[in-house]
Amino acid sequence: MAADWSAFRALFPTLRQKAYLASGSYGLLAQPVEAAVRQYLDDRLTLGVDWGGWGARAEAVRCGMAALLNASADEIAVTTSASDGINSLASAIDFSGPRNKVVVSNFEFPTGAQIWHAQTSRGAVVEHVPQAQDGDIPLEHFAAAIDETTKLVQITHVCYRNGWRLEVEAITRLAHERGALVLLDAFQSAGAMDVDVQALGVDFAVGGMLKYLLGSAGAGWLYVARRHLGLTPTVSGWFAQADIDAMDIFANDPALSARRFQTGTPPVVNCYAAEAGIDLIRSAGIQAIETRIREITGLAMDRLADAGCRLATPRQDNRRGPQVAIRSLDAARLTERLAERGVVVSWRDGNVRAMFHAYNDVSDVAALVEGLIANRDLLA
Ligand SMILES: Cc1ncc(COP(=O)(O)O)c(C=O)c1O
Repeated sequence: MAADWSAFRALFPTLRQKAYLASGSYGLLAQPVEAAVRQYLDDRLTLGVDWGGWGARAEAVRCGMAALLNASADEIAVTTSASDGINSLASAIDFSGPRNKVVVSNFEFPTGAQIWHAQTSRGAVVEHVPQAQDGDIPLEHFAAAIDETTKLVQITHVCYRNGWRLEVEAITRLAHERGALVLLDAFQSAGAMDVDVQALGVDFAVGGMLKYLLGSAGAGWLYVARRHLGLTPTVSGWFAQADIDAMDIFANDPALSARRFQTGTPPVVNCYAAEAGIDLIRSAGIQAIETRIREITGLAMDRLADAGCRLATPRQDNRRGPQVAIRSLDAARLTERLAERGVVVSWRDGNVRAMFHAYNDVSDVAALVEGLIANRDLLA
């Protein structure tokens, strides 16, 4: 049965006032997510404490993420941010031997580079993979950087600055051929695209709940493929233990599952929001969402090109995700001018970023195009 996108759109009250195209910055609040957060407050007022119930919320987030990523629940850690997950993973990696290089694409969000640079004091050497003239990072650039000294390759699924999608499967195949591991940052894709960790073949993946997954800040996820569950993080805590209730202060006995990459008390209130957000994505269907976003972004790109906008994002469907980046002479000013017209976008580098979710429709595309035409003086 075809999804009812106008019913889906109606769940997001902000869309009655705004053309909201900033989901890669923060996804819109849906009514069921609002209700879940209110439920947390009600539970606090009526029950005071509910560790059993709160633990069940965190487990629901773990299971929901596993289903969305085509992983098993025991391969998912429920974290407080993407940075939190990357730090725990980094702490488990040994850089003391000859395989000590971390290859980092220049599409990474700062956190996905900074954390690896922080490992240089533990013996890591970081090498960056530059972009080509057209803005892409082609496979050859990865081939030039990944060698027999490479321990891990950090790649991003969809670049937060320009909307380019990396060729994750091909890069992962190359890395594996050369004995390196791959960590995928899927913060700008999970919830908007079908991120199938098994099909992609990656070793680890990371993200957070506040953007396309429709949850809130303060909750994240880390996928660790079962074959790597022997890794032992030195970032640890009581929620990482095999038995959380053991309260053993004389040993560190990490869980056999990816929970070993967690640390302290889970982000309870954020798990209420995350569970509701994941439920919404799963009930609409991630493949249907991906198709819807591909159609609406494709339409937007065609109309923007007709209007004379220069795009930083490639038109080719398999090389882009939910973001359309528009080149500007002053992206900050253009973002402000669009906001004055009720069109909410965001900017990075010289680009205005229109970041679509399945709740957007042609009226949002029209508002964006009209707003840009009216501010042609700021288009590059
Ligand atoms: C691609 C990507 N990775 C990582 C982050 C940061 O994650 P966190 O603040 O949860 O550590 C962001 C945030 O915008 C992002 O877009």
